[in-house]
Amino acid sequence: MLRPLFVLPALLLFQQPASAPAPDQSPIPAEAAHLANPIKPTSESQAHARKMYGYDCAVCHGATGNGKGDLTDLKPAPRDFTDPAALKDLSDGELFYIIKNGRGQMPPEGDRMKPDDLWNMVVLLRSFAKK
Ligand code: HEC
Repeated sequence: MLRPLFVLPALLLFQQPASAPAPDQSPIPAEAAHLANPIKPTSESQAHARKMYGYDCAVCHGATGNGKGDLTDLKPAPRDFTDPAALKDLSDGELFYIIKNGRGQMPPEGDRMKPDDLWNMVVLLRSFAKK
C-alpha cells in the first residue's frame, strides 16, 4: 500500500505546472527589441560568457549551440545557432530579452546575470554561426 507520506510529494509535483505562471510567449516589446548592444566584448568577457553558457544553456542548446543538448523533448526545439540563418530574424535586443525573461520552456536568467553579461551572451550566441 502507498503511504500518504510518499503520495503527497508526488501530488505536489503534478500540481506544479498548473500553479506555475503560463509560459511566456508574449510578443517582445518594441522598445526592448530596439535596444542596441552597448558593450564592447573582450576575450575575457567572451570567455566568461562561454563558461556561463556551459552552466546555464548547454543542457538545452548544446555545447556548440546546435540545439542538441541533453534535454531533448523541448517544444518548440531550440534553433541551431551554428546555422547562420537561425538568428537572422532576431535583433540583439530580442535575444537579450529572451535570455533575461525566458521563453516557453526556457527559464529566465532574470537577475542572475548582470546586463553586461547578458549582452556578452548575445555576442557569444551570434559567434556560434561564424566560421
Ligand atoms: C530548459 C532548457 C533551456 C535552457 C536552460 C535555456 N534555453 Fe534557450 N530556449 C529553450 C527553448 C525550448 C527555446 C524555444 C522557446 C520558444 O520559442 O518557445 C529557447 C529559445 C532561446 C532563444 C531564441 C531562439 C530560439 O532558439 O528559439 C535564445 C536566444 C536562447 N534560447 C538562448 C538561451 C541562453 C543564452 C541560455 C542560457 C543563459 C538558454 N537559452 C537557456 C530552452 C532552453
